[in-house]
Amino acid sequence: MSVTVSSPGVRSIYGSTRSPKLLGSLSWPGRVIMAVQSNVISVAPILTKLKKDCATPLPVLRHVADAMASDMRAGLAVEGGSDLKMILSYVDSLPTGNEKGLFYALDLGGTNFRVLRVQLGGKEERVIATEFEQVSIPPELMFGTSEELFDFIASGLAKFAEKEGGKFNLPDKQTREIGFTFSFPVQQTSVDSGILIKWTKGFAVSGTAGKDVVACLNEAMQRLGLDMRVSALVNDTVGTLAGARYWDDDVMVAVILGTGTNACYVERIDAIPKLQCHNSTFGRTIINTEWGAFSNGLPLTEFDREMDADSINPGEQIFEKTISGMYLGEIVRRVLLKMAQAGELFGDSISEKLLTPFMLRTPDVCAIQQDTSKDLEVVGSFLRDVVGVSSKLSARQIVVEVCDTIAKRGGRLAGAGIVGILEKMEMDSKGLIFGKRTVVAMDGGLYEHYPQYRTYLQEAVNELLGPEITKNIVIEHTKDGSGIGAALLAATNSKYGHNF
Ligand code: BGC
Repeated sequence: MSVTVSSPGVRSIYGSTRSPKLLGSLSWPGRVIMAVQSNVISVAPILTKLKKDCATPLPVLRHVADAMASDMRAGLAVEGGSDLKMILSYVDSLPTGNEKGLFYALDLGGTNFRVLRVQLGGKEERVIATEFEQVSIPPELMFGTSEELFDFIASGLAKFAEKEGGKFNLPDKQTREIGFTFSFPVQQTSVDSGILIKWTKGFAVSGTAGKDVVACLNEAMQRLGLDMRVSALVNDTVGTLAGARYWDDDVMVAVILGTGTNACYVERIDAIPKLQCHNSTFGRTIINTEWGAFSNGLPLTEFDREMDADSINPGEQIFEKTISGMYLGEIVRRVLLKMAQAGELFGDSISEKLLTPFMLRTPDVCAIQQDTSKDLEVVGSFLRDVVGVSSKLSARQIVVEVCDTIAKRGGRLAGAGIVGILEKMEMDSKGLIFGKRTVVAMDGGLYEHYPQYRTYLQEAVNELLGPEITKNIVIEHTKDGSGIGAALLAATNSKYGHNF
């Protein structure tokens, strides 16, 4: 398998970079801190309250898992029946390994987009070759017009397609087909079309919501004279599930824990009452839960509420704002700011950086937690370089505790969400989930790069399911599965068939 990578932009491990424009959109209006209050309130009570508000003991986890399952049912019963949209993917058949030919994938889901091509060789040869390129999206395009964004994407795709050669070949007179991974809430209207419901993850592009995103891409390709065809439009969770299923038949659920978060799973057609007339040869389909919008019974703090109120989508994506990579760093920054103001955590000055929303990112929080030195030197230099403050050891210890508290809550709640999905599936088909090996395919930088978060997630799953059942549940990281998965779904839904 050959892999070519060219990366004109820098991708951070959580798919997000510090962006002045992004910060601008999430600005903190009217709050200028004139002077630091005297040290009336100490830091300790703030930390104690934070830990109490973020606590996720077993009863809280149980409530979240149960509420996730019942919100899923409500969302499957009627359109708009719950916070969870439970979107039909129209993906009824998953890759089998027989897929053959050249397929493209286009992946838009964060501050980067990725283009990929794969030459598939069927059961014997599987993936013969893949190549991909990753391009950062200029921050201004995240706040520009729909045409500007799709023109930029189409031109990246065109440049990439021009370089095709070597092991990649397309039969004569065939149009290149694309699996388009579009990782925002989309109301699918067929396997290759869908209407954007709303932007998430800090995007605020005008003119796309309410439109078919495949039509937007097609129009941009036409403007460029690029002859390619989208044969599958998929959410990144669905691409991940398809990509993982290509190698392992036991994959039933896929979860993304990166900049944003979401989960999808294999559902029985007869368990979807809101589905009036949809025929599936296999009696099953994939449901995109859009669980980022879940909000039932979450342990939230004043910092979460303030961050939500100041965001571009207040009241929305509450689960995402509590557990995903875009937000963990910002929650920590808000806690540290309060500790600095009210408890003089960093002496008597408050840095500009600490006052700047989103200046502390989740990878920073993660790096802080990896410091095992006696004096917490790494923490000290992060605080100096990123937060712009000098710190004593006692302050650094508190900072580590704050990071741990926020990561622990996020990881454990994500684990409870996964259990909710598995329990819903098990309830409907007794023994088919817990009675055998069942794989949850996982992708996203937060899960991949944050060991403590991963551990907390797994601990919550163990606590909720107990040791016997947990043995059958495999949570497996499938890196970059969504790109290949989308290309595989383009093959499965190819207008030329895929067994030529
Ligand atoms: C989007 C989902 C996506 C998830 C992970 C969320 O913000 O709403 O569609 O799957 O991020 O990328």
